[in-house]
This record gives sequence, structure tokens and C-alpha cells, in this order.
Amino acid sequence: MRSVVKASVTKMSLDAEGDTKTHMIDGVRQPIATTAKHLQDLQMFEIVEDDVVVMTSPKSGTTWMQEIVSVLMYGCDVEKAKQEYIEKRWMFIDFPFQTEGVSSPRLIKTHLNPQAIPPHIKEKKPKIIFVSRNPKDTAVSFFFFHKTGKHLPTYESWTEFLNDFCAGNLIRGDWFAMNSYWWSQRNDKNVLFVKYEDMKRNLSEVVEKVASFLGWTIPDGKLPELLQHCSFESMRSNNKVNSSEDPLIDTDKIPFMRKGTVGDWKNFFTVAQSEAFDQIYREKMAGTGLEYDYEL
Ligand code: A3P
Repeated sequence: MRSVVKASVTKMSLDAEGDTKTHMIDGVRQPIATTAKHLQDLQMFEIVEDDVVVMTSPKSGTTWMQEIVSVLMYGCDVEKAKQEYIEKRWMFIDFPFQTEGVSSPRLIKTHLNPQAIPPHIKEKKPKIIFVSRNPKDTAVSFFFFHKTGKHLPTYESWTEFLNDFCAGNLIRGDWFAMNSYWWSQRNDKNVLFVKYEDMKRNLSEVVEKVASFLGWTIPDGKLPELLQHCSFESMRSNNKVNSSEDPLIDTDKIPFMRKGTVGDWKNFFTVAQSEAFDQIYREKMAGTGLEYDYEL
């Protein structure tokens, strides 16, 4: 892992009109508000052992896992979780953030590539939950997020977006590098690698695994409340988690909880795109053994 993030910032154009919403820092595209200075400062950010980190490539089910962890931390008191906006309960370290008044255990969210996260994570070994989703559904979800995120460039063309996804040219960098790296770390005692598709298939099993990984107990009889609270429909109508209070995201156009399914990619990938993607996946992920379900 690099210990110093160089302050070299290169503006690159994503489209013909020019992109003023993102920039390249050390070869990784970031939103403008993720500055080189912030990433430099982050290299000195102190992690403590009881921090809980939810780490993902964007659109992999981050918010879903955040809410599960949050409710588990509150002893499954869902009413408590409903009282505060999710981003206030979590420190999103990809942008400048505040540490004052944050109680322990701190809940930390990040989409940053392995080279950009605080190196202290390696020594302190906080609990890291990495959520990973099949890249075809992730790409589709990310495409729609670019239509609603005011801090992101808009893509009119799905094909253009998919090309940038495959090239690792979207914000937070290369999906393949990020997911294969954390897959390779999955046997570390402080890392839990969770697949979105497994959450869809059997949420209670995943929640129990997360609770046991964190060393937190689920009070007797409380699991059903958590499962109901974290269901797609419930989260979609919960203003504390559905981004409707986020000024950067226009959820009037497209809800943040958009479809929440496995297999939506089939509505967007052409057969040729899907075959080409499979080939790219085979090449980039060769030898990793990381496989996904693309339908349930
Ligand atoms: P879709 O756009 O496919 O619907 P993130 O939080 O990482 O940005 O991921 C957002 C994706 O997770 C969205 O996918 C969203 O609908 C899905 N999601 C969020 N909460 C969910 C839930 N409770 N059940 C299923 N999917 C959920």
C-alpha cells in the first residue's frame, strides 16, 4: 500500500463538453469534493480497533449494510435508527468529515481504493465489512445514480457509461481492482466479505453472520424487526436512509432505492455487451476465484 498520496491532480474530460465535476488524483477519478489535500490528510487519520468500516464499490448495497450495522449497534432498536439521518450516524471519510462528538464504536463508510484508505487500517485491524455486488447490476445502478447525483457527470449513453465502468474511469476507480483486492483479504480475521446477492437470498443469515463477526448480540426475538426495517420497501420509504434529505441527490427523478433486485442488468446490457463484459471479467479477474450470481 502506498503511504503517501501524491498531490498530482489532472483534470480529465469524461465527455465532449468537458467534465468539471470530477478529477483524477493518483490515477483514480474522484468527485471534486474529494480533494488531493483531503486524501493526503486521510493518510494520517487515526483508526482505532473498535471502528467498524463498511467498504464497497459504489452501488453495491452500502446503505443497506450501513443500516443493518447501525440497527445492530442499537441493540435492534429500529426506532433509534429512525431518529437520525444515516450520514450523521456514519463518517463518510471520502469527503472531509468531522470527528468531534463521534462516539465509539465509530461507524465509517468508504468507497476509496485500497491505496487511498488510511494506512493505519492495516495496523489497527478494525472490523471491515466489504460488500460486493455482481458488476453488471452494480454498473446499471451506478448509471442511474449518475442521473440523480448532482455532483456527478451525466451520461446520456449507457454504452459510453459501460465503457468507462470497464476502463475503471468512473469515480472511486476500478471496480475489478477494488473487489479482487478485498476478496484476496477475505480470510483476514478482521475482514468480512459479503455479497449483495447473498443478502437478497437470505438476509437473516447474513445479519446473523455480521452480528457474530462484530461480536454483537441480537436480543431475543428482535431479528424480525431488524429484517422488516431493512427490507427494500421499508428502506425506500424511510427518509433517514433513502437520500431524499441529501441535497446532492435528486431522488424525485429516480429513487435512491431504485429496484433493489438481482438481474436488472438484463434490461440494459445487449447480448453483445454482456458477452464482451464476461470476457473482460474473465481476463481481469483470472485466478481470483471470485464469482457472482447474476440472477436468483
Ligand atoms: P439499485 O439501483 O439496483 O436499485 P449503495 O447504497 O451502495 O449506493 O447501493 C444502492 C443499491 O442498493 C441500489 O440498487 C438500491 O436499491 C440497493 N438497496 C438499498 N437498500 C436495499 C435493500 N434494503 N434491499 C435491496 N436492495 C437495496
